[in-house]
Amino acid sequence: MAFREYKIGARMFGLALGGSMMITLYMPSLDIVKVGSTEYGLRKSMSFGRIGGFSLEDPFLKGWSKPKTVLLKKDPLSGADMEPTYAYVYEPGVRFNSAIPHPRILGEGVEELSVNEGRIGEANEREGAVFLVKEGRFNGKKYPYLVNATATMNWSPESVISSVSDDQVAQIGSGKIMFVREGCWWCHTLLPEQTQDWQAFGAPPRLGDFNGETPTAFGSDRKAPDLLHVGSRNSSREWMMMHFFNPRLVQPHSIMPRFDYLWGEKDAAGNKIDYDKWRQEYTEYVSGARVYPPEVPDYAADSDIRKLIDFVISLK
Ligand code: HEC
Repeated sequence: MAFREYKIGARMFGLALGGSMMITLYMPSLDIVKVGSTEYGLRKSMSFGRIGGFSLEDPFLKGWSKPKTVLLKKDPLSGADMEPTYAYVYEPGVRFNSAIPHPRILGEGVEELSVNEGRIGEANEREGAVFLVKEGRFNGKKYPYLVNATATMNWSPESVISSVSDDQVAQIGSGKIMFVREGCWWCHTLLPEQTQDWQAFGAPPRLGDFNGETPTAFGSDRKAPDLLHVGSRNSSREWMMMHFFNPRLVQPHSIMPRFDYLWGEKDAAGNKIDYDKWRQEYTEYVSGARVYPPEVPDYAADSDIRKLIDFVISLK
C-alpha cells in the first residue's frame, strides 16, 4: 500500500517539475525563435562560437575550439581587392555556433535566407567552414543572413587564414572565455548603456573606498566602468597592454588587479618574461627610486592576453 502512494507522489512531483520546466524554459524559447536575429546579433554570436563557459571541448576554459574573426581586404583566392569584410573562420574540428546545426533559432527570414541562399546546411564541422554575414530579401523584407562561403565561394578556412596577416585576425571567441574565467564580471558590467557611463554614474570607486567593508556584495556599489562599448572609447592596444599588465601604470588609483600572468612564460620574441625583475623595478618606480616604470613586454601571438584584448576591443 505504502509503495503505491510513493509511486503516485513521485509521478506528481515529476509532473510538477516537468510542467514548470516547460513554462520557464521551453515556452520562452518559442517566443525567442520568432524574433529574427539582427546583424549585430549574428556577428557577435559567429565571433563567439558555440558555447561559453564549461564545455567538453574546453573543460579548463582555455579558449579552445573557438572561431577566428578575420578582417578581409582581399579575396583570399584571387587576391583581388574587396570591400573590407569580416569572415568568421571555423577551422577543422572547431564546434559551430548553434545556429548552424539549428537554423530555426535564427528566426523568420534569417533562417530561410541562411539555409537557401547561404547554404549553411552544407557546412561540415570536421572540415571546417568560413561564414559571412550578408543582407538579403525574404517576402519583400530585408534581413541579415549567414553565408557559408566554403560552399558558395570555395573559401576554405586555411585559404582565408593564410591570406591575411596576424593583425587582421581577432580571437574574440577565446577572449570572451578569458573574460569569464578571469572573473572580470566581478567588477565590470556589460550593460547596454547608451551613454558614457562615467558621466552617468560618476567615477568608479578608488583604493581605500572599501576599507573595513566585508563582504562587498554584488550590486552594493559600482566597482568598475561598464565595458559594453569600451572598444569605441578606447581601442589602443598599447594602453590595454599597460593597463592589464598593471592598471596602476595608467590609473594610479585603480582597484583593478594585475593580469600580467596572462602574458604566459614568453614574450613576442620568445624570450622568457622575468616577472620578478619587472616587479622589483616597478616597486622602485613607485618609491621614487626610478624615473620611468619598466616597459611592459610585447605579448606572444598565442598568449591569453592577446585573446582577451581582441575581445575587449571588439566591444564597440
Ligand atoms: C576588482 C575589480 C576589477 C576587476 C576584477 C577587473 N577590473 Fe577592469 N577596471 C576596474 C576599475 C576600478 C577600473 C577603472 C580604473 C582603471 O582604469 O583601472 C577598470 C577599468 C577597466 C578598463 C578600462 C575601462 C574604460 O572605461 O576605459 C578595462 C578595459 C577593463 N577594466 C577590463 C577588465 C578586464 C578584461 C578584466 C578581467 C581580466 C577586469 N577589467 C577586471 C576594476 C576591475
